[in-house]
This record gives sequence, C-alpha cells and structure tokens, in this order.
Amino acid sequence: MVSRESLHSLHDVALLTGIEESKIRYLENEFHDYFKLKQLDLRGSYFDANQVSVLSQLHRLMTEQKLSVSEVRHFYGHLFSERRKKVKMVAVTSGKGGVGKSTVTVNLAIAAAQRGLRTMVFDADLGLGNVHVLTGIQPQGTVLDVLAGKITMTQALAEGPANIKILCGGAGVSELANLNREYLAFLTRELERLAFEFDLILMDTAAGIADGVVQFLRLADEIVVVATPNVASVLDAYGVVKVARQAQCGGQIHFLINQVDTLQQSLGVFNNISSCTQRFLAYTPQYLGHLLRDPAVEQAYQARRPLVLSHPTAPNTLLFHEVSAKLFAEILPRKKRRNKDGNNQGFPSQAVQERVGRELC
Ligand SMILES: Nc1ncnc2c1ncn2[C@@H]1O[C@H](COP(=O)(O)OP(=O)(O)OP(=O)(O)O)[C@@H](O)[C@H]1O
Ligand SMILES: [Mg+2]
Repeated sequence: MVSRESLHSLHDVALLTGIEESKIRYLENEFHDYFKLKQLDLRGSYFDANQVSVLSQLHRLMTEQKLSVSEVRHFYGHLFSERRKKVKMVAVTSGKGGVGKSTVTVNLAIAAAQRGLRTMVFDADLGLGNVHVLTGIQPQGTVLDVLAGKITMTQALAEGPANIKILCGGAGVSELANLNREYLAFLTRELERLAFEFDLILMDTAAGIADGVVQFLRLADEIVVVATPNVASVLDAYGVVKVARQAQCGGQIHFLINQVDTLQQSLGVFNNISSCTQRFLAYTPQYLGHLLRDPAVEQAYQARRPLVLSHPTAPNTLLFHEVSAKLFAEILPRKKRRNKDGNNQGFPSQAVQERVGRELC
C-alpha cells in the first residue's frame, strides 16, 4: 500500500519536524488512543506522511499554543465525535456510461457548497476520471499519489470552483480501477479522516457494476443512480440496484433521470425501473428528480465551467438546486444547529477552541 521509500524513521521524523526523538515517543504514548481512533496506528519504527503531520500538529498545539495534554485530548476527542458522524457520503453512479454522472456530481457539489456545506468531490472513476476537466482545474496530485503514500489526502485536494475541494482520479490507469482490499481499506480510512473538514463527500464513480464501482457504493450513505430514457440505460440501472442490494450496500438508492424532455417522461422512466425492482428485488428506490436535455449542459462542459455557475438561471441549474435541497435536507439544518450551540461545553474557552480549530483543519 505505502511504499517503503515514503516511510520515515524516527530519526528522520525528528529531523523533519524538529521534535526530539524522546518527545515523539512521548506524544505517541500520550495520544496512542487518538492515533488508533483516527486509524493511524503507528507501525513501530516507521512513520508515514499522515502520522508525521499529526505528530507535528500535536507538538505545535503543545508548544506554540501552550495547551496541556488534557486540553489537546479533549479537542481531538470532541472534534472527532462531533464531525465524523456529520459527514455525508453520496455516491453518484449508473449502469450505462455517458448518462451524466460527472455532470451531476460536479453541479450538485457546487449547489451544496452554495448552500453553505463544506463539500468535497472524489473522482472515484479511477481509470478514466474527468472531474478535473469539467471543473477546469489542473490536478497537483491524484488519489493515486495518496495511495502510493507520496502525499497526504489533504495535500491531494485541489481547490475547485465555488470553494469545493476535489480529489482527482487517475486518468488512464486501468490497473487501479479495482482496488485490492488493502488499498481500499487505506482509502476508506483516509476518506473517513476527512470528516474533520467536510460536511459532504460526493463520489463520482465509473459506470457499470464491476467490483471497482461496488466498493465505493458500499461506502456511501446515499446512492444516486443516474439514468436516461435510453432503453439500455434503464436496463443497466436495474442491474445497478440488483448488484448494490446483493452487495448489501447500506445506502438508500435514489434515481435521478437525466436528459428528459418533460417531468412526465422522467416519471415514466422511474416507474418502469421501480416496478422491476419491486417485483424482482422487493426493493423500492426513491425518485430524486429529473434534468432536462439541454445543449447548455454540453456548452458548460466544453467551457469547463459547471452549469450552475456558467448558466445560473438555466432550467437545469434550478433543477440542480431543487435536487440538492432534497438530497442534503438533513445535513443543512444540523449544520446550522452546530454553528449555533457548538460551544456549549464551556471547556476549553471559545478563544482556545478557535485557535485549535484553525490548527486542526
Ligand atoms: N441534461 C443534459 N443535456 C445535454 N447533454 C448532457 C446532459 N447531461 C449530460 N450531458 C452530456 O453528456 C455527456 C456525458 O456526460 P458525463 O460525462 O457527465 O457522463 P458520465 O456518466 O459521467 O460519463 P462516463 O460514464 O463516461 O463517466 C457530456 O458531453 C455531457 O455534456
Ligand atoms: Mg464520468
């Protein structure tokens, strides 16, 4: 998973961070349970980039911010439990390719960010990722660099439009499309750690029902299946529901019907799929909404400027906002509540909380 070259010895970490070796061992001991909680178990003599980064943070908090061990522990525990359970993971997928998954992912992410959610897009199409193309960004690093242990997940995140962060996929690297168990476990842990920084993670998967897709569907709290009126797309969408249910994916499955001419047409498509899943799988998916077939979507794609930004009053932009309000309804009010009474424990003080919050995020 992480190559040996990207691991550092105790001596190297001391040189890199300026923390004495004995102090590193001390931090390891004091915060052993915290490392475990973050699934950053120390591997004895060697440290990876994430561990070094957390050790540096801890050291800074105790020296520059002059916090005691118990204050730092309090904050890590508090932030972890408060934030982790609030991140929502949504997978956008489809049976047939080219139906609009990436378009939907990027535009929903921007609509969510415009509603105040801290949003990340993970281009989980590891073989042919193109979220960077749609958003007009130049990736500095990709998920493949994270998997190779060259950079941390946080370092790999690119700044996208409307303040979204983007973890780019690995275009043209087909051998990683199906991650082995070890890679996947590592990636899952890394994504979970981002619960500190985001309210919402949207995953744009590859098309189809290969293991490489299902592995990401399993991580999702909600699964959005994009389908069009095309017969193959309808049949393949049924296949996605079947495989997701067989693979015991826990997320609720929603349907977003793209490239329709009318609402009625989209309801017809959804009813066809839904009656099949009810009959053969005893499962009823949710109807999430529809998007119209509109050349403006392709224009935005070509201009590398997502539709909700380039065409703020286009019919599909309004539909993206409707869908986002519906799909993320649960997390919007909770975020407001947290802002209002997020500091109700009285320890440590507000000023210290803000200082530590800045340090950790
Ligand atoms: N509602 C729409 N109206 C018109 N064109 C659309 C619409 N939605 C998507 N498209 C166009 O369809 C093409 C495929 O879209 P997109 O790349 O989002 O699909 P995808 O499902 O992610 O494809 P892949 O399976 O290759 O990852 C793009 O050229 C896009 O502009
Ligand atoms: Mg795509």
